[in-house]
Amino acid sequence: MARQMLVANWKDHPASLDEADLIIKGMAKHASTYKKLHTFIAPPLPYFDIVSKKAQNFANLASQDIFESYEGTYTGAVLPDILKSFGTKLAIIGHSEMRALGETDKSVAQKIRVAIKAGIVPLVCVGETARDEKGDYLEFLKNELRGSLAGLRRKDDASKIVIAYEPIWAIGKKAKDAANKEEVTEMVIFIRKVVASIFGRSAAEKMPILYGGSVEPENAAVLAKETGIRGFLVGHASLDPEGFNEIANALI
Ligand code: PGA
Repeated sequence: MARQMLVANWKDHPASLDEADLIIKGMAKHASTYKKLHTFIAPPLPYFDIVSKKAQNFANLASQDIFESYEGTYTGAVLPDILKSFGTKLAIIGHSEMRALGETDKSVAQKIRVAIKAGIVPLVCVGETARDEKGDYLEFLKNELRGSLAGLRRKDDASKIVIAYEPIWAIGKKAKDAANKEEVTEMVIFIRKVVASIFGRSAAEKMPILYGGSVEPENAAVLAKETGIRGFLVGHASLDPEGFNEIANALI
């Protein structure tokens, strides 16, 4: 089986460079585990330099977003070339915390195109705010996927994309509040069906789908197996090197 993916989404943490350094040192102790996976660290931009240098032996650098334009002059923007100069291999796109600030499917679609052009793997986040008995959340997810993946060149682009299913109701909580094994399994099948309707069956089969939303050492092993996921996108638990190592081991 192909190596599973593990993405550490540090969000806006930790609060200082020294703490970032400590997390990397803690992770480095388990370098051999991370090398058995495709491990990525997505730190805040000011920590790109130390992460790219000190974690290069066991993890790739990822960005938490990508700018909508490939070139031009934009105060405050970080263009893909800058990300690439640090060795960025993957970009989280359409995270629910960005969508909550107003990011639209259209902008997500544009960012995916920019990432592909830059040779950076787009990790496209989708997920419903809440569940309802009627199953409206499935319709929501279908539309979000279709809108986010709009305008891509069929199979060619499909092979470059990774999806992260991150139900918003499960983010930033505890393991017991995360999506359970049945829910994750069902959503992976559903997402593949939608992707197949856009790109065809074989592209959908190959597209990696990760799960994110309160993955912790307590639920990682259960979610890692037999759900169809090909890895995890981990937020708060990625800041604790020992716990994160347990999550990594669950994927091996
Ligand atoms: P969490 O965050 O693991 O803290 O729930 C995941 C994410 O938002 O990517």
